[in-house]
Amino acid sequence: MMTLAPTMLWPKYTSIRKRTMALIAPLSVEDCCVQSMPETSPAKWHVAHTAWFFETFVLEPYEVPFKPFHETFRAMFSSYNASGETHPDSRRGLFTRPSLSVIQDYHRNIDERMHRLLRLPPKDEMLPMLTILGLHHEQQHQELILADIKHLLSQNPLTPCYQMPGALPSIPPGPLKWHDFEGGIREIGYAGEGFCYDNESPRHKEYLQPYQLASRLVTNSDYLEFIEAGGYENSALWLSEGWDWLKSNQHSHPMYWLRKGVDWQEFTLNGVLPLSLNAPVVHVSYYEADAYARWFGARLPTEAEWENAASQQRIAGNFGENGHFHPIPSDAEGLVQLYGDAWEWTQSSYSAYPGYSPAKAKADGPISAVWDKAVGEYNSRSMVDQYVLRGGCCVTPLERIRPSFRNFFPARTRWQFSGIRLARDFAKPG
Ligand SMILES: [Fe+2]
Repeated sequence: MMTLAPTMLWPKYTSIRKRTMALIAPLSVEDCCVQSMPETSPAKWHVAHTAWFFETFVLEPYEVPFKPFHETFRAMFSSYNASGETHPDSRRGLFTRPSLSVIQDYHRNIDERMHRLLRLPPKDEMLPMLTILGLHHEQQHQELILADIKHLLSQNPLTPCYQMPGALPSIPPGPLKWHDFEGGIREIGYAGEGFCYDNESPRHKEYLQPYQLASRLVTNSDYLEFIEAGGYENSALWLSEGWDWLKSNQHSHPMYWLRKGVDWQEFTLNGVLPLSLNAPVVHVSYYEADAYARWFGARLPTEAEWENAASQQRIAGNFGENGHFHPIPSDAEGLVQLYGDAWEWTQSSYSAYPGYSPAKAKADGPISAVWDKAVGEYNSRSMVDQYVLRGGCCVTPLERIRPSFRNFFPARTRWQFSGIRLARDFAKPG
């Protein structure tokens, strides 16, 4: 893996770490402490956990002498079984202590110690690699902070705004068109010299039947047609597990939609807004995405189909840097919104690529063991009962995304900014 020179690493480190603190700046101390459901984490925990990652996987192997900021934090803010004791995920919201200001001190303390480490010539190539891994991990948690805080604020009858609403673009999108892709043997998986997670490798061949991808994401207007056509009442459209999920939870629309008389509104990070019919639908589960596709007479793409198309596109779109924190419509021609706006559910189960093995450092030794722990547990142990999502969304840092990047969540997940792109089989006429 190509790594940044140490002189480049520190500016990159500070800009990403400052972004985490900027994301929690609009929140109250109380906002930062609460966990709104077992799948989410308090903002305070995210800040502490990202600091913990650098302390455990970079400072502990390299700092001399190493002294943790607080011995008890080592289990409190860990999520890695391989690193020792952890605290139950669903009880993170019970940490009224330490206070947010102590967590901010922890964040600053780690930065000072990282600065001392990074200003020296690195002892080996593993130090910059572990630091870069920590930065990618931090960006993952930046996205989670926004998704989790959206869920928390949505539970409050005061419908608080995370940020004051600016005007979101509302141009009518172009009509949905189909883009043809020839079948054949195609390669997917990471091929470059930069950073990637182990689950993106090895690059390997996949056989694709000819297929078509929809030119844009499914919009709220499109999805409303499905609702009004009785989509949530028709069991024939749903996977049996999805139908059970729908019935037991009494779902009848995407998460965060609010019915106001005959109108629809939507809870967003910019407060409650009239539902933008032109914008991509988000916060749908895999079950809902699959049922919509079936109703439409299409299907969800496989991840290989998605990557084959996306690897031919420039990585650009509505990402977290835009500050909208909400998907926006596009009236551009061509295959649009593959990157940004909404994570796109694929029909591919999250599993290992052929020839995959959890990340291993090239050499043996204590530092290599740290790398194996830091990366190996990150992805390989999650390969059960989850589906792959691709492309990033409106709260994803742009740098996180590559054509080969694989996100993954259980089928029931809705609090992520997950949306729908349709696909279908394609037989060339004649
Ligand atoms: Fe993490």
